[in-house]
Amino acid sequence: MAIKSYLSEQKLLVEAAFETFIPKAEGVVKKHIEAMRYSLFAGGKRIRPILCLAAARAVGGESVDDQDILPVACALECIHTYSLIHDDLPAMDNDDLRRGKATNHVLFGEAAAILAGDGLLTWAFDLLSNPDSSKLAAEKKLAITHCIARAAGSYGMVGGQDLDIANENSEFPFETLQTIHRSKTGALITASVISGGICGGAAPDTLAALEKYGDKVGLAFQIVDDLLNITATTEQLGKAAGSDAERGKATYPAHFGIEETRHLAKQAVEEAKNRLTGFDEKAKPLRLLADYIYTRSH
Ligand code: IPE
Ligand code: IPE
Ligand code: MG
Ligand code: MG
Repeated sequence: MAIKSYLSEQKLLVEAAFETFIPKAEGVVKKHIEAMRYSLFAGGKRIRPILCLAAARAVGGESVDDQDILPVACALECIHTYSLIHDDLPAMDNDDLRRGKATNHVLFGEAAAILAGDGLLTWAFDLLSNPDSSKLAAEKKLAITHCIARAAGSYGMVGGQDLDIANENSEFPFETLQTIHRSKTGALITASVISGGICGGAAPDTLAALEKYGDKVGLAFQIVDDLLNITATTEQLGKAAGSDAERGKATYPAHFGIEETRHLAKQAVEEAKNRLTGFDEKAKPLRLLADYIYTRSH
């Protein structure tokens, strides 16, 4: 299986589902929906929903119906997209380019961008809790909703974003750096894998292995994001290169240098794959996704 075609196939699946789940830009809140849709369809890689789908199939195989996973997968991408809209705001990273396009606040204004983020976050929980969104059992929906809420909130992404901003231009110990990366980025990635596992009916020990895999690929994902910020160009990334150093961000390369950081990213990916030794061929996409997270160019 080639990772490139797998990713583009899965991306199409997720985007087709979005068209059924996310409202059309019409009615009294047309402008607000337009702003949400702008960022949602701006060309993201869809890594979190794809990890969720891959984890569900790794444990559930043929017995899982994509239609039962897609509301969860799309909810994860809504939360991710909201986090990026807010991350780019002038009060946070102050970026005007994202996915090769103007950032949400540049196009729609700050107030509308904040609300587009709020709208996407809330849509996620609408999708997760909607009894009619899929045939998934109510207990599974509840477990998934709790897992994602925990990962997105103060002890996960939001807390990590707060620490990221608070530690700009400061001396930071390695533990703080690791906590920032695990929480601002790793937590939602881990939740993507676990929630997929729950959709697929994973037993507790299997879920525990998926959690460890998610933690390592989540950490690797942000380490590679740090690396690309230095080694890639703005054109390649579709977002400003070199911005981390400019803003004095707590990053792996700032702490370890480029070569050691590469090594640490690779190590995290290998450890992630090692967590899957008890899994069969159905986990192949999870293994390939771990490699992709290390080799990706944007
Ligand atoms: C970028 O995430 C921000 C981080 C959490 C590191 P992605 O690289 O997944 O962004 P898109 O969605 O593909 O643009
Ligand atoms: C993004 O981290 C993390 C979240 C949005 C939760 P960064 O600020 O490092 O990511 P980019 O480089 O802007 O995509
Ligand atoms: Mg940031
Ligand atoms: Mg940023």
